[in-house]
This record gives sequence, C-alpha cells and structure tokens, in this order.
Amino acid sequence: MVWTLTSITGSITGSITSSITSSIFLPGRHFFKATTAPKSIIQPDDSEFDAYTRQLTPLDDFLASLRHDGLHPAFDVVEFSHLTEHSRLPGKNHARVVSVTPRGTCTSPCPRASCSRRHVFKGFDFDAFLHHGPNFHEHQKRTMLHEIRTLAALPPHPNIMPCPTHLVVVHGDTDNRTGTGAPPRVCGFLQPVMRGETLDDQITKAGDRRIPLARKARWCRDMAAAVLHTHRVAGTYHMDVKPGNMLVDDADGIRLIDWEQSGVSMFTHAKEVTIDQEAREEEEEEEEEEEEEEEKMKEKEDGAEERRRNKRGRIVYIPRTGPKRCDLPWGYPDWNVFPEWKRTCPRAAELAEVFSLGRVMWMLMEQVEQSPSPTVWTDRSNDVPEKWKAIANRSLEVDPNRRPELDELVDFWEREVAALTARDDVVVAVGCGGMPTL
Ligand SMILES: Nc1ncnc2c1ncn2[C@@H]1O[C@H](COP(=O)(O)OP(=O)(O)OP(=O)(O)O)[C@@H](O)[C@H]1O
Ligand SMILES: [Mg+2]
Repeated sequence: MVWTLTSITGSITGSITSSITSSIFLPGRHFFKATTAPKSIIQPDDSEFDAYTRQLTPLDDFLASLRHDGLHPAFDVVEFSHLTEHSRLPGKNHARVVSVTPRGTCTSPCPRASCSRRHVFKGFDFDAFLHHGPNFHEHQKRTMLHEIRTLAALPPHPNIMPCPTHLVVVHGDTDNRTGTGAPPRVCGFLQPVMRGETLDDQITKAGDRRIPLARKARWCRDMAAAVLHTHRVAGTYHMDVKPGNMLVDDADGIRLIDWEQSGVSMFTHAKEVTIDQEAREEEEEEEEEEEEEEEKMKEKEDGAEERRRNKRGRIVYIPRTGPKRCDLPWGYPDWNVFPEWKRTCPRAAELAEVFSLGRVMWMLMEQVEQSPSPTVWTDRSNDVPEKWKAIANRSLEVDPNRRPELDELVDFWEREVAALTARDDVVVAVGCGGMPTL
C-alpha cells in the first residue's frame, strides 16, 4: 500500500513530532507503538516500513561500493532500534543525541565504553521517509551516503570531524535475490557528541559578553586550516562553510562537519556560486593595462602582492549557455559549480570558500548569530584589531580575484595566534615576578 503518506503528512505532522520527541527513539517496526498518537491514524503496517527499508541501500552494497573506490574504513554496526533519543539538534536533517541501549549490540569488536557514551545520530529514519516526497532513495544516497563516502576519503585533519566509526542499520524485508531474510540497510551514522556545540551556539550563548580575542584568532586559524586541507590535500570542497557547521571540540578547537556537499549556505555563500558558470584562469598579461594599474594600487593597500609573486592568473567567469542545469535537487541553487571548478579552475572553488570564511570571521568577530544579514561592523567590534577586520573585508570582496588565497589566510591567523600567545606568555611571566622571555 502506498498509503496516503504524503497526503496525510500535514495532518499528522504535529502529533507525530510531539509524540516522538518525548518517547523512545524509533525502535524499528515498533516506532509508533512507543507514541501516544491515535493508533487509527498513524499505525503503519509492515508494507509501509518495508517501502522505507527497500529504498535504503543494503550495508553490503554500500561497503562494496566504498571498496570499489579504494576506501576501507572500519565501521561498527548498530541497530537503529537499539538507539534511545535524548534530544534533537538544529538543522534540516533532524540530527539528534542518542545512546545505544544496554541490550544494543554492535557487530565486530566494539568496545562497550564507546557504546554507552552519547552520540549524534544523523540519517534518515522512518519518520523522515513518511514526510519525504518522491525520490527518497536518491536523496538518502546523494546526501547521507555521500557524506559518509566523503569523510571516508578525507585524509584526517585535527580541524575536521573524522569519518564515523558507527553505521546505523535497519532490517528490511526478505531479500528476493537470495531468499534470505532481511539484509541490514544503512539509515545513518553516529558521531561523538561535542559538548562545545557549534560556533553559532558559542556566539549566541556569549550574548553581550565578548569572546576573548585569542580564542577568536585560534578559531579563525582552525577554520581556515580545515578548508585549506579540504582543497589542497583532500582535493575536494565543502560548500556549506558556516558557524552552524563548525563544532567546538573538547580541546576548544574547531571541527568542520556536514559533508553532504549538496547545497550552499544562505548565510555565507559567495555570489559567483549562485550563477551557473564556468571558471577559467587567465595569464596576468591578458589584463587591460589600466586595470593592472588599478590592481597595483590596490595591492599596495591590501597586501595581495603575494598572489602576484606566485604568478597567479586572473579568474574569469563564463556563464553557461544552453538548458538550465538541475544537478542539485535538494539544495540551493539547483546546480553545483564546485565539482567542475575543482577540475577546471580549483582556485575559483577555493576563493568561493574564502568568501564564506570571511562571513564566518565577521560573524565571530562582531558576535552575531548566523543569518543572511549584510556584513556591517558596529561599535560592538571596537575591541577587534583593524587588521582582522581588513582580512575579513578582503575575503568578502565581490571580485574573487581580490580575495586572499586560502594559504594566505592560514598564514595570517597563524601569525596572529603566535603573537597573542607570546603576549600572554609575557603577561604570565611578568605576573609571576619573572623576566619576560621574548
Ligand atoms: N558531533 C556533534 N556534536 C554536537 N552537535 C552536533 C554534532 N553533529 C551535529 N551537531 C549539531 O547538529 C546540527 C546538524 O548537524 P549537521 O550540520 O551535520 O546536519 P544538517 O541537518 O545537514 O545541517 P544543516 O541544516 O545546517 O545543513 C549541527 O548544526 C550541530 O548543531
Ligand atoms: Mg549543518
């Protein structure tokens, strides 16, 4: 029965959502038995649950596809029905804090200690399926499985959330091919909970209290280092760099999360990625003389000499002709320029992320929660050094050619962190009655 799932969604949303949040977390086929919502309205039958599981990818197939790509991450496997929900998190995918129930089992050697801890579950549960329109299969594959695959391929970095160690599975109906029962299918993954929450949470919670400059500098350095690693070492892109995707770990460092690569942030995206266009790097000599003169003047002010020294060319953007592309059905915009730019003009992809980093730097320095509001410095930021504002402003230049390169950003923040640390050392040394060590 295709049930009138989508048509009744509106009428049952409230009752489902309110009853889920206070009850046990989707124990497989018994999900609705744990709720108090009227049985007559939302009691699913097996065919509905099977319709859901059939659209999920069998675990074995997914692991085989990773191996096919030369990826061999080690995963423990947890049954979805063995998770208990503790709280819900922000975001479109309804990530949530869970623990594995004591009777919960992991396959393979899975130390108990790691199971008893709290985790963040991210994935597509039965509820997500019920509220989903067509193409559920395609969606979970191109976002959830894509995120796991991207993380599995990323060389580790201290400022990037590592590949999950636990996959979450549900069991579907009998496998018609083999006649065997219910192969496990991937519905999500677990990651350790970061108690520092996100940069956006840190900013919101600080309220009128100013976050120390040394902390801001470290976080800016960490964010820039994560994005540099993403592009130059991992050879990929993020495209959704924003405060809500920066976790603060237990060592007060940044961890970049949310690797679906299926949409840009409404709060931080660069204008050029919303236009379906090709990017090409041209030799400097091709520039108009007048323009070059103007550029030279600008360089004197903004320190872009480094780019010239490295003989980097000028990026030109050529809007695509022909029918409108639609290769990003679940995000904004409808198309994704990043994969192509990574191949044809990697600097264009990098500089788009520099813009997003500029927005995040401004939100952090000014201490405003993430939103699409324009970049305006107010008196709140009187404590922020002018050169910090200047590097954020340069990152936010409309013309990507005027933005600093990713490595320049990292170098800048490395120097600032070092300077602040040295200053702190002096203060500590003087405070202890000793001589400053410079
Ligand atoms: N490991 C974690 N520890 C603590 N909080 C986390 C963790 N992972 C995710 N979160 C929280 O859950 C939110 C949603 O996670 P994530 O960004 O991965 O999913 P999303 O639903 O795709 O987000 P968005 O709607 O922003 O694209 C984060 O913004 C953060 O608040
Ligand atoms: Mg997110």
